[in-house]
Amino acid sequence: MLKFTKKDILEISSLSVDDISLILDTAERMKEISERPVKKVPTLRGKTVVLYFYEPSTRTRTSFDIAAKRLSADSISLSGSTSSMVKGETLLDTARNLEAMKPDVIVLRHPSAGAPHILAKAVSASIINAGDGMHAHPTQALLDMLTVKQHKGTLSGLRIAIIGDIAHSRVARSDCEGFIKMGASVILCAPPTLMPKGIEFYGVSVTFDINEAIEGADVIMMLRIQKERQSGFFFPSEREYSRRYGLNLEKLKSARSDVLIMHPGPINRGLEISPDVADGPHSIILDQVTNGVAVRMALLYLVTGGTRNADSD
Ligand code: CP
Repeated sequence: MLKFTKKDILEISSLSVDDISLILDTAERMKEISERPVKKVPTLRGKTVVLYFYEPSTRTRTSFDIAAKRLSADSISLSGSTSSMVKGETLLDTARNLEAMKPDVIVLRHPSAGAPHILAKAVSASIINAGDGMHAHPTQALLDMLTVKQHKGTLSGLRIAIIGDIAHSRVARSDCEGFIKMGASVILCAPPTLMPKGIEFYGVSVTFDINEAIEGADVIMMLRIQKERQSGFFFPSEREYSRRYGLNLEKLKSARSDVLIMHPGPINRGLEISPDVADGPHSIILDQVTNGVAVRMALLYLVTGGTRNADSD
C-alpha cells in the first residue's frame, strides 16, 4: 500500500500522482461511512482539528466539521470575526497560540494567497488549505476529481471545460493542476478581461468562445462570478455576461449527450448558470458536495498518519 508522507495539504502542485490517487482511493472507502445508519468510526479519536475560517464558507467549513466528527476527532471552529484577530492579533501569533493548545490539524481559509504556507512553516500541526485568496483550493480540486472519476471511471483522456471568472478563481487554478496531472485536458473559457495573462503556463488551452469550450467536453465546470474580489468592471452588465458566457439549455444543446455539469458553489443562479441546467439531468453539483465530506475525511485521516483500515473500525 502507498504511504502518505505529506504533513500539510497546501496546493495540488505539491502532490504527486500517487498522492492524489491515494487520497481519492481513501475517500472512496470513507464515503461508505456516511451511508451507515451510525455515521461514525473511532479512527481519529483523541485528535483535535481546528477550523479557522477568515472568509465565509458553507460547503468547505461544514464538510470539514462533519468529516472530523465522523472520524471521532474533536473539531473546534473559529472565524475571523470572533477571534482576537479583530483586536489586532496577527495570523502568526494566532497560529502560535493555537499550536500551544496542541491541535493535530489546522484547516485555514484566508483571503491572502500564501497564508497557509506561512502557517505550515511556523507550526508543527498539519495545515490544510481550505482556500487562500485567489491562489489555491486544493481540497475542492480533489473532490472535483473524485466526482468526475466516479461518473466517468477515469480522469485520463477526458476533456474538461472550465468556464467563468477564471481570473479570480482559486478553484480554477487547483482544478487545472489536478486534472492535467491526472491525464485530462483542460480548456478555459472567459471574457478576455477575466482570463489571466499567461494562464497557458498550466498546460491548458484558452478560448473566449463558450461554444468552442462546450463542444466535445466530457465535463463543463461553471465558475461563480466573484463579485467580492472584483474591484472594477470586467464586463458591461450581468445581462450581457449571462447572454455570452452563462450556461443555459440552449447552449447545452451543442454539448455531448453524456456531458457532466459541475459548479463548486455557491451558485449565482441565472448569471453563470440557469436553474434548469444547475438542477437538470446532467448536473452532478450535489455529488460534489457529498464527496466533499469523503475527501476531507480522507485528508484528515492521511495527514494525521492514519494507518488503520477505516473499514475495520
Ligand atoms: N466551494 C466552496 O469552497 O464553497 P464554500 O465557499 O461554501 O466553502
